[in-house]
Amino acid sequence: MAYVVTEACIKCKYMDCIQVCPVECFYEGENMVVINPNECIDCSACELECPVQAIVPEKDPRSADWRDINRTHSREWPNIAYKGIVPADADEWRQITSKRQFFSPHPAPISNKI
Ligand code: SF4
Ligand code: F3S
Repeated sequence: MAYVVTEACIKCKYMDCIQVCPVECFYEGENMVVINPNECIDCSACELECPVQAIVPEKDPRSADWRDINRTHSREWPNIAYKGIVPADADEWRQITSKRQFFSPHPAPISNKI
């Protein structure tokens, strides 16, 4: 089993989850991150760390629409092992529950790195 990053991460991308993952299995897109399900060791550390509760276990029904996105894009986006620059408007997006239409399939730009 693995953990899955879901809709709440979009445009928030706080990256607190990155800091606690013992196996560095996060991959960074333009406006969210995903988890590689083949690398995740199911430790649950990231779930507790995310301030917007975007990370859920695979068995949680809320992961349904996001499992394939995590699997596919973790193969295409760059690995992220350290917290980068949080989007300036992240707090404005935190209360917005419907963000699916803002999902970007593009990888993170290099300028996101600190
Ligand atoms: Fe990393 Fe553990 Fe989260 Fe899996 S559950 S992504 S291993 S912190
Ligand atoms: Fe996203 Fe939460 Fe991590 S907002 S980047 S899943 S800390």
